[in-house]
Amino acid sequence: MNATTETIASTPGEPGLFLALAPMDGITCAAYREVITAQGPEPCGISLCVTEFIRVTSHAVPEPVLRREVPELATGGRTRAGVPVAVQLLGGKPEPMAETAARLAELGALAIDLNFGCPAKTVNNHDGGASLLRTPCRVEGVIAAVRAAVPAGVRVSAKIRLGWDHANHVADLARAAEQGGASWLTIHARTRVQQYAPPVDWVAIGRARVAVTMPVVANGDLCTVDDVARCAEQSGCTAFMIGRAAMGDPRLFQRLRGATHRNFDGPWMRALLLGYVAALRAAGYSEHATLGRVKQWLRLAAPMHAPVHEAFMQAKSATLLPTALAALDPWALAVAERAA
Ligand SMILES: Cc1cc2nc3c(=O)[nH]c(=O)nc-3n(C[C@H](O)[C@H](O)[C@H](O)COP(=O)(O)O)c2cc1C
Repeated sequence: MNATTETIASTPGEPGLFLALAPMDGITCAAYREVITAQGPEPCGISLCVTEFIRVTSHAVPEPVLRREVPELATGGRTRAGVPVAVQLLGGKPEPMAETAARLAELGALAIDLNFGCPAKTVNNHDGGASLLRTPCRVEGVIAAVRAAVPAGVRVSAKIRLGWDHANHVADLARAAEQGGASWLTIHARTRVQQYAPPVDWVAIGRARVAVTMPVVANGDLCTVDDVARCAEQSGCTAFMIGRAAMGDPRLFQRLRGATHRNFDGPWMRALLLGYVAALRAAGYSEHATLGRVKQWLRLAAPMHAPVHEAFMQAKSATLLPTALAALDPWALAVAERAA
């Protein structure tokens, strides 16, 4: 992989480096997608954003819910900075999944991603997310139904883990996804049983990659430029999805394209977080809900930088939004000190 490739592929398999922002429930809402894709004067480096999952149970999801969760449907399926957005659906029943996907396509969605990786017990016990990994033919069935329900120009991708409790059948899962008609497959390099525990197995992603002709996107613990290079070497992939590291190092996407920013810049990060807060409030999130999302951002970013860890320790018990935001003040002081 050429980590300094400047061409931004908008789908994996196209020439250029494909870097997707991972879906993260409780974080990557439209307000987050807005601020992260419009971070600065330069392009953000993100090829595609994937929404938080939208749960589909027995009935298709109503249009107002889809418009609320994906306001980008009103702007051609892209963020205001122009980055395409894939809408992620989660469910085990082909018919309502297909009907929801068709509705999304009519509303202007450019791409639909199907979640077969969620490890949450409540979801898995109700026939959704990673529970389908135990029966590859069901993964194929859901993908095929969605593929058949949307026009050819709308991409349908799938996101899986390596398997339920081992990675021995990851190639079978990839073949099932391809058979169902997926445009590409993202693989989080852990099993469902592992949840988020180490280690990730990027080599196993490579076994899936060589079993299919569609592009495979590697995901899991890609936190630095070096991680992505090692993952490329071990998996053979040229397309990547980044999740938690986007919280601690939102400019990682740009650095993977050759930019030379520091990986933590307090004032810059504080401004981004305050922008997120403003966007959430403008979108109608209550102060309490906004507080929860700020804490979640800090929690995910805390392992990457000492100042973020300190801010998180201070903010995590806050019951009021201004108290949590005050934990970011030392990051701004760093500016004043430097300017003095
Ligand atoms: C808080 C949180 C929420 C997540 N929500 C989703 C989701 O809605 N859909 C999904 O496919 N994956 C979800 N994931 C998994 C991520 O997309 C990704 O596969 C995982 O975090 C590994 O990538 P990373 O190491 O780059 O974070 C979530 C992960 C986290 C930490």
